[in-house]
Amino acid sequence: MKVLNVVGARPNFMKIAPIIEQMKKAADLDSILVHTGQHYSEGMSDVFFRELEIPVPDIHLGVGSGTHAEQTARIMVEFERVCANEKPDLVVVVGDVNSTMACAIVAAKLVIPVAHVEAGLRSFDRAMPEEINRVVTDALASLLFTTSRDADENLEHEGIDASKIFFVGNVMIDTLLKHRRKAVALQIQKPNHYALVTLHRPSNVDDPNVLGQILEALEEISKSIPVLFPIHPRTAKSIRDFALPINGIRTMDPLGYLEFLNLEASATVVLTDSGGLQEETTILGVPCLTLRNNTERPVTITHGTNTIVGHSRSISPHFEWRLETFRSSRILGRSRR
Ligand code: UD1
Ligand code: UDP
Repeated sequence: MKVLNVVGARPNFMKIAPIIEQMKKAADLDSILVHTGQHYSEGMSDVFFRELEIPVPDIHLGVGSGTHAEQTARIMVEFERVCANEKPDLVVVVGDVNSTMACAIVAAKLVIPVAHVEAGLRSFDRAMPEEINRVVTDALASLLFTTSRDADENLEHEGIDASKIFFVGNVMIDTLLKHRRKAVALQIQKPNHYALVTLHRPSNVDDPNVLGQILEALEEISKSIPVLFPIHPRTAKSIRDFALPINGIRTMDPLGYLEFLNLEASATVVLTDSGGLQEETTILGVPCLTLRNNTERPVTITHGTNTIVGHSRSISPHFEWRLETFRSSRILGRSRR
């Protein structure tokens, strides 16, 4: 059986790593890794292949950045050629990025079965490009692998036959658990207590007013606790283009997986709009304030450490509450000892 596994952007790499690892062990399976090139900077792509020991992609489409239509179209054109040459029996796509949807559409039109890993997540917010990618990919997939029961329900509500849905768990968390010890053991200079921030959702970073207000809120927070902020290239570009001031915040380039996991695991609080971080902080037991109005990962709220705080103006009060909880737990911890 020949399987084409597709990756394109940062959050895909942690998800594909354990899948490829298992596929390589199966003697009767010819597994081919295709990188669309949606993300291409060293710190957004190459570093993850090294650290997570993902084999060098067999095929690289080199599509790069562009508008949604440009990027999706380029991936589709290139991936159609790959499918024609390779004639796979199955295409595996992960997550919800443009590469995920583009390759699912191509495969489905060539009547090649598609397996979607991380199926069924829904924010019910079609202003998010990822929500459109999720809905389209799930509508086309023959095998839908889910990470939570709410995802199964979402798929069934959309009329997807239950026989196609498999509740299998979370491959991104498999990667976290595999690398956690190594990451935590890294010697990294960092404050004892700090807030860790990541931001890249268009709704937060593409509008100068919204991004400006978030940066102001982070500056305010930095007066209480150091704020560490590895900046996603989309956000870095916006900050440059809008000439927004950054005060009090310790900014840095995007980090490799192990270094980032080290900071995430011992953060006092994480402030983020990332999908993956909501799940990772839940597993790590680190409080997470999600700077969005909704989440496609409700289990991180009902079972985890996540709180939806919305945008700029509501950040500070939630942060103060989190910090107070943290301080009282430390005082309580000391008095118990
Ligand atoms: C993409 C995904 C998003 C995911 C995020 C993870 C879509 C629609 N969006 O958003 O779901 O959460 O990745 O990080 O698929 N850039 C670089 N170097 C790179 C990649 C991008 O400099 O390696 C810059 C370019 O200026 C580019 C911008 O970042 O235009 C945005 O990249 P793009 O892949 O279009 O979207 P992301 O915001 O990264
Ligand atoms: N991550 C990383 N370095 C960073 C920021 C994030 O390695 O500087 C990891 C993070 O631990 C998680 C993944 O990137 O495993 C999440 O990707 P991202 O936030 O870009 O995408 P999303 O999950 O929002 O789709």
